[in-house]
Amino acid sequence: MSTTGGFRLSRSEYKAIAQRMKAIQEQQIRIVRNMSRIKYKVAIISSKGGVGKSFVTASLAAAVALKGRRVGVFDADIHGPSIHKMLGLPTGLGLQARPDGTMEPATVPPGLKVVSVGLLLPMDEIPLIWRGAIKTGAIRELLAYVDWGELDYLFIDLPPGTGDEVLTITQLIPKLTGFIVVTIPSEVAKSVVKKAVSFAKRVEAPVIGIIENMSYFRCSDGSIHYIFGKGAAEDIAKQYGIPMLGKIPIDPRIREANDRGKIFFLEYPDSEAAKAFREIAEAVVKIVEEIGPKPPKWGPPADSESIEREGSS
Ligand SMILES: Nc1ncnc2c1ncn2[C@@H]1O[C@H](COP(=O)(O)OP(=O)(O)OP(=O)(O)O)[C@@H](O)[C@H]1O
Ligand SMILES: [Mg+2]
Repeated sequence: MSTTGGFRLSRSEYKAIAQRMKAIQEQQIRIVRNMSRIKYKVAIISSKGGVGKSFVTASLAAAVALKGRRVGVFDADIHGPSIHKMLGLPTGLGLQARPDGTMEPATVPPGLKVVSVGLLLPMDEIPLIWRGAIKTGAIRELLAYVDWGELDYLFIDLPPGTGDEVLTITQLIPKLTGFIVVTIPSEVAKSVVKKAVSFAKRVEAPVIGIIENMSYFRCSDGSIHYIFGKGAAEDIAKQYGIPMLGKIPIDPRIREANDRGKIFFLEYPDSEAAKAFREIAEAVVKIVEEIGPKPPKWGPPADSESIEREGSS
């Protein structure tokens, strides 16, 4: 029998815990090795669900790949993995396993490497009812055993919110280059960005910039309608000294292309949204590779209260 903090463990329980700790340690060593072969690791965050984070991640990744960078996309949204489908890969496709136990990412044009829990699930309709430790364990295993090779960028689509799960996933990735915050232009955007900034402070990574999705809708007569409001993201970007990377309009063809598994801006290269993504990719590459992401000028205190409870987003 061994004792730990008042609990008594049997010899076999003690052995099982020691083995698990050793396995986690080995995985962490592998993660550090894998991630050291990727120049820039950019996490996409939003403290609100359904704002188009996955669409923005997939489109930005493709736009950066078209600029000649080697790009991977890691869908870390274990509850609602969707990037694989937006990129035309079916749920349940699987990942190619190698004899040495590592796995190969799937690849899609324009040369994107893609890994998503969705590729490993048998079908979309099965909900993942995993407890916290198992969820983050799955993410840790993917980070440890997927061999991305040498990459310039890895874009990580985080689960919605700024809760414990997002914190754990972010802490698994060594030397994160920074966060890109995705928001919509409503007043809610202000608190969304504030939460994301305070989260970034907490994990000591800079905010590369803000992308405002669903900014406006342009009618066929040319008139512009600000369906979710106007200017909130810009105000807060100025207040914090965070770069405003760009604004993506509402376009029903975006939803339709995503549902068909087609990359919108490759299908509609002349659209306003496509133009916006090309400019955003330009800005991201410039900030990351030339200027270097800077911490926000000002922001809410990086206290533990800024990390929300799971599911409260
Ligand atoms: N600018 C846009 N115009 C029209 N439809 C959009 C736009 N951006 C995203 N969508 C659509 O909105 C829906 C939500 O987008 P998406 O899945 O990317 O959001 P999310 O923030 O990742 O959501 P979740 O919180 O569930 O992960 C999708 O159907 C997508 O195709
Ligand atoms: Mg998503």
